Amino acid sequence: MDNTSQIEYWNGPAGQKWVRDADRMDVMLSPFVDAIIASVVPRPGQSVIDIGCGAGALSLNLSSSAVNVSVTGVDVSAPLIELAKKRSAAVGAGINFIVADAAVWKAAEPVDLIISRFGVMFFSDPVAAFANIRANLKPTGRMRFACWRPLQENAWALTPLTAAMHLLKTPPTPPPPETPGPFAFGDADYVRRILMGSGWSNITITPWDGDLALPGATAEEAAEFMLEMGPLSRAITEQGIDPAVVKGAVVAKLQALAGEDGRTRLKAAAWIVEAEA
Ligand SMILES: C[S@@+](CC[C@H](N)C(=O)[O-])C[C@H]1O[C@@H](n2cnc3c(N)ncnc32)[C@H](O)[C@@H]1O
Repeated sequence: MDNTSQIEYWNGPAGQKWVRDADRMDVMLSPFVDAIIASVVPRPGQSVIDIGCGAGALSLNLSSSAVNVSVTGVDVSAPLIELAKKRSAAVGAGINFIVADAAVWKAAEPVDLIISRFGVMFFSDPVAAFANIRANLKPTGRMRFACWRPLQENAWALTPLTAAMHLLKTPPTPPPPETPGPFAFGDADYVRRILMGSGWSNITITPWDGDLALPGATAEEAAEFMLEMGPLSRAITEQGIDPAVVKGAVVAKLQALAGEDGRTRLKAAAWIVEAEA
């Protein structure tokens, strides 16, 4: 299995952007912390792996809400793991953060629980990756992760892109279905096929629908964030477009949608996926 292109991506400029924007990203994605861990807080003495943990928000939340639980965060991005380690040290959390490819990494001991917030959609061979992830779980263990539904259902990501579309050199071509990337798991049948093919049982896939508040107190700040993150950011980077060229159109659109408090809240759609080893 070759995840080289994703490993390069998350260790390059994109990884640096995620480091820079980690605090704002964590505020925006905070609803998913509860959605993933509220119902699965492990018992004392149990162990957990957070796959594609990034800067560690989910690991840190779990560690602070569970007593005497050992948490390991695994991610391919060295800069994000460095930040996760700093965050853990700052609060004395003692989480074990590791730079590794979760598709092939072997835990020293199988764990009780595997979790992920949007960190499992990037494997070149997802069936092999989820078989390896399952091998890191005890036979009694469970997994619970969040992944995005299709871009078309996620206005938080789609709206900034459509607002800037007329200023792009060419409309971005959507990746072929099932291509590794943030929206690769949009089709629940595909997710179920992957998990069944890698030996998981009692699979449940539940829709999560809600509004996400884009980071920033104003539409301008929200637009600046969306020029750094998500499909619009990818499109302007790939097409070599100066963000300043599209910023005005994005600010205007987000401004029109902003609430009385000046903040823009847009629809988000995800799957909460649960399975047993
Ligand atoms: C969308 S980010 C989510 C980060 C974090 N879970 C969060 O919610 O903030 C996806 C993460 O998956 C990581 N990732 C991608 N492929 C991976 C792999 N094969 N093994 C481990 N981590 C991977 C990336 O480096 C990145 O940090």
